[in-house]
Amino acid sequence: MWHSRSLHAVAAAVLTTLPLILATSSPKRGLCHVPSKKYPSDDKVWVNTPGSDLTWYYNYGASPSAAYRNTDLQFVPMLWGASTNDTGTIFLDTVTDLINGGTNITHVLAFNEPDGTTATGGADISPSVAAAAWIRQIEPLKDLGVKLGAPSVTGSSRGFTWLENWLKACNGGCNPDFNPVHWYGNFEGMASHIGQMMGTYPNQTVWVTEWGYANQGLEETQAFYNISTQWFDRMESITHYSYFGAFRSDVSNVGPNSAMLTQSGKLTDIGSWYLGGASTNNVPNGDAAQIAKFCGWVFVVLAVGVWVVL
Ligand SMILES: *[C@@H]1O[C@H](CO)[C@@H](O)[C@H](O)[C@H]1NC(C)=O
Ligand SMILES: *[C@@H]1O[C@H](CO)[C@@H](O)[C@H](O)[C@H]1NC(C)=O
Ligand SMILES: *[C@@H]1O[C@H](CO)[C@@H](O)[C@H](O)[C@H]1NC(C)=O
Ligand SMILES: *[C@@H]1O[C@H](CO)[C@@H](O)[C@H](O)[C@H]1NC(C)=O
Repeated sequence: MWHSRSLHAVAAAVLTTLPLILATSSPKRGLCHVPSKKYPSDDKVWVNTPGSDLTWYYNYGASPSAAYRNTDLQFVPMLWGASTNDTGTIFLDTVTDLINGGTNITHVLAFNEPDGTTATGGADISPSVAAAAWIRQIEPLKDLGVKLGAPSVTGSSRGFTWLENWLKACNGGCNPDFNPVHWYGNFEGMASHIGQMMGTYPNQTVWVTEWGYANQGLEETQAFYNISTQWFDRMESITHYSYFGAFRSDVSNVGPNSAMLTQSGKLTDIGSWYLGGASTNNVPNGDAAQIAKFCGWVFVVLAVGVWVVL
């Protein structure tokens, strides 16, 4: 019942207000940092482009990226995963040390796609293991004034079920301030999904920490990018968003047209628009042979492997 009313309201808001404004920059924009081992200098594009409007970043890990130390990008640490054998407080200690050392940490993220499989980059953890890890490592940060992001579930309906089971397992011990959302699909589906998230958790703001319209033509991808960023900018309860994205088109695992860099590392139209700039007319190309080798997920999985061992 609620769902259809909310979807209707969302659709109406989109139709009546979107064409009026073409926002070209937004303080809500952040970088979902997917580093390239082959082209480490790509990291600089996001901070060295004059007028870049990005204000924050995350890298799926607890520690800042070396490339963004001493820049204006504010770091948002993430506790990527958890395991039954893991009983320490490495994440909590790392973030506390950063804060004590003067790093401005105002928000943290927790658990990357815990309801997803590791094959698609998910942390694949049970709600009860995640609840225990949250209570030990995330909830104490509230006392330091840090705002807590709920687990970043996938955009599928099982994400809602997972969140519900997680809150039950927490038994009152998990009190997130905002809800990160991931979405790969069309705009209508995304608006409905985010509407459902807002309806289910009305007291929490929304961050869209990964989103895109995977494997579409260039024009569809750009139209989707335009309408979604305009919508995010208008929605008061969507306070942060980070496009998935920040890699070269020939290594993209979401199709070449979603990438913000071309195969030769130049900003695509979407890449430039995201930074608040003009069209570049640089057309992204794919490379079928390279897609299987996409290094972003491998990096994340390796990083987590190391972290768990530590
Ligand atoms: C936890 O530790 C046990 C015993 O050392 C081991 O058999 C198991 O594979 C470990 N589980 C995980 C998720 O690491
Ligand atoms: C920390 O970051 C927040 C949010 O970006 C900002 O409002 C605040 O002024 C910053 N604090 C310091 C001490 O720089
Ligand atoms: C939201 O916050 C209000 C005011 O603090 C509270 O009365 C209400 O129970 C909260 N709703 C949920 C779903 O937590
Ligand atoms: C997207 O917006 C840009 C301006 O930011 C505009 O130049 C472009 O034509 C738009 N593309 C589509 C497909 O809506």
